[in-house]
Amino acid sequence: MAGVTDLFDRQVRDLRVSVTDRCNFRCTYCMPKEIFGPGHEFLPRDELLTFDEIASVVRAFVARGVNKVRITGGEPLLRKGIVDLVGMLSRVDGVEDLTLTTNASLLARKAEALAAAGLNRVTVSLDAMDDPTFKKMNDVEFPVGTVLDAIEVAAAAGLGPIKVNAVIQRGVNEHSVVDMANHFKGTGHIVRFIEYMDVGNTNGWRLDDVVPADEMIDQINAVHPLEAIPPNYPGEVANRFRYSDGDGEVGIIASVTKPFCGSCTRARVSAEGSMYTCLFASEGTSLRDAMRSGVDVGEVISEVWAKRDDRYSEVRSDATPRLSVPVEMSYIGG
Ligand code: GTP
Ligand code: 5AD
Ligand code: SF4
Ligand code: SF4
Repeated sequence: MAGVTDLFDRQVRDLRVSVTDRCNFRCTYCMPKEIFGPGHEFLPRDELLTFDEIASVVRAFVARGVNKVRITGGEPLLRKGIVDLVGMLSRVDGVEDLTLTTNASLLARKAEALAAAGLNRVTVSLDAMDDPTFKKMNDVEFPVGTVLDAIEVAAAAGLGPIKVNAVIQRGVNEHSVVDMANHFKGTGHIVRFIEYMDVGNTNGWRLDDVVPADEMIDQINAVHPLEAIPPNYPGEVANRFRYSDGDGEVGIIASVTKPFCGSCTRARVSAEGSMYTCLFASEGTSLRDAMRSGVDVGEVISEVWAKRDDRYSEVRSDATPRLSVPVEMSYIGG
C-alpha cells in the first residue's frame, strides 16, 4: 500500500504509542502533584488498548509508511507485560526501529528481557546530575545514581547507543547543561537538551522559562568546543553537534525557538487508543472504538492523516491565548 500524505505533503513515518498514562515520578513540569495527586483518576484498565489491539494499530500504520515505533507513557515500563508487547511489536514486518522512552526507574531489572524481546534502543529521561535538583524535579525523591546505573545496564544489554533526554527550565536546572555534557562526554551515550515546551495545561509554562537552544550550545561550547553535524535522517528532531576533539556528540531539541513542523512525520496514539496528529492537539480520533465496532482501523488512520494540517510550534506565540485545550504530555507520551 502507498504511504499517506497530509495537507502539507508530510508522510507518516514515526509512530509513538503510549501504553499507560501512569507514572511513578511526578516531574513538576509534567505531572505536578497538585493535579496528579491521590485523587487523580487514571484510565481504567478496560479502556486501555490490549496488546493485540496495539499490534493491529502498529500493523495498520506500517502499511501506511511507518517504520519507526516508539513506546511511551506515562512510564511505559509500568505497563504489565511490557516485555511481551515488545516481543509482539518487534515481530511486525516493517518495524525497523523499535524504541522506548523511560525514566529508567525499572530499567535495570528489565533491560536484558527487553533486548531479548527485540527492543532496539532506549531513550532515558534525566534532567540533572545532582540529587537536589533531580529530586526537586521528579518530586518523588528519586536519586540520580539509580538512573545512571540503569543506563549502564541497558547499554551492556545492547540497548545503546543510549539517548539521554534532559528538559531544561530557566532557573531550575540550567546548570545541568554543562554538568550533563561533562558527565556523558566520552561515554558513547548521547545527551539531548530539550527546550521546555508549553505542552498540556498543568505546567504553567511561560516563554521566560525557556532556555533557548543557542544559549545551551554557547554554554557547552565555552567548555567543550562543538561543531554542527548533519541529521541522521530527514526530519530528525534534534540538531546534532559533535565535540571537536572527537569525543562524542550532543543534540539540541529546539521545538520552541526553531520549530520543525515542516518535516513532522509523527503520529501519536494514546493508551486508550486515540490517534493524535500533533503533540499539541486537543482532540484525537478513537482507533479503539473503530476497532471494537468492526471498522477498518487503517481506513480511519488514512482519513485522519490525509486531513492533517497541524503546525502548532510554528504558529505558537506567547501573546496568543490558546483556543482549545491540549492533552497532557503524560497522556500522549512526548
Ligand atoms: P530518535 O529517533 O532517537 O532521534 O528520537 P526522537 O527524535 O523521536 O526523539 P524523542 O522521542 O526522544 O523526543 C525527544 C523530545 O523531543 C520529546 O520528549 C519531545 O519533548 C520533543 N519532541 C519529539 N517529537 C516532537 C514533535 O513532534 N513536536 C514537538 N514540538 N516536540 C517533539
Ligand atoms: N517540554 C519538553 N519536554 C517535555 N517532556 C515532558 N514534558 C515536557 C515539556 N514540557 C519530555 C520528558 C521526556 C519525554 C517523554 O518528554 O522529559 O523525555
Ligand atoms: Fe513521568 Fe516522564 Fe512525565 Fe516525568 S516527564 S512525570 S518521568 S512521564
Ligand atoms: Fe509536529 Fe505538532 Fe510538534 Fe509541529 S508541534 S513538530 S506538527 S507534533
